[in-house]
Amino acid sequence: EMMKEILGLRALETELEQKLGVTKVVIVPGNSDEEDWVKQEMGQACVRELKSIIIPSSVVAVMGGTTLAAVAQMMTPDPKVSQSIFVPARGGLGERVENQANTISAEFADRAGAEYRLMHVPDQLSEEAYSSLVLEPSVKEILDLIKTSRILLHGIGDATRMAARRSSEEPFMNKLKREHAVAEAFGYYFNQTGEIIHKQRTIGLQLDELDAGKHVISVAGGASKANAIAAYMKHRPSDVLITDEAAAKGLLHNE
Ligand code: G3H
Repeated sequence: EMMKEILGLRALETELEQKLGVTKVVIVPGNSDEEDWVKQEMGQACVRELKSIIIPSSVVAVMGGTTLAAVAQMMTPDPKVSQSIFVPARGGLGERVENQANTISAEFADRAGAEYRLMHVPDQLSEEAYSSLVLEPSVKEILDLIKTSRILLHGIGDATRMAARRSSEEPFMNKLKREHAVAEAFGYYFNQTGEIIHKQRTIGLQLDELDAGKHVISVAGGASKANAIAAYMKHRPSDVLITDEAAAKGLLHNE
């Protein structure tokens, strides 16, 4: 904490809160594009934040990605957290298993000594499959649980990089380019002004369900994500942004 004062990160946090309209910004030193330990530092900050706001019997919804995977590794037992339940916020979105919301939510729960639920649904669904799956009792049960979540933890990615990682087809990659997509978060793609330009059809929490009652914690860092973070926060400023020094400096030098 003293280190943060010395590095001037406190001042950057305040500046960024004002610029993004985010209630609370936490900045850790470094650049997670270049060093893996920076994601772990963001993870520790996120766990600290989660423990400070959680009340027993909370439902915590978590999304996927390498950042959230690193955050889950930092979870430690806590009496309040152990009485909570972790759920994946959305379906798999074409990620490797270690980066999927299901895996990450189970990891969080195991480390915290809490319960978790899995959502057994495939990634990319046809319209027909989607409409019948959401009516399945086992799927409906977890969807209802997800809707009651009071805390959401999610990452933010660079649009093109995320689409490529999910092995998207050429026409979709072209659409992202044409419409100047810069950010991705839980299956939604955004342009620089924060407009949604595409939404992947997956089962789970939808962006328009993030009402004021949900405490949203976004975790994203690295110099390469500055534009993506700015775009996403224009769409919906989060309650908390946990980021790193490199992304923060990029964000403050923009515009
Ligand atoms: O859904 C994934 C996020 O948008 C970003 O993923 O943490 O691996 O960069 P990441």
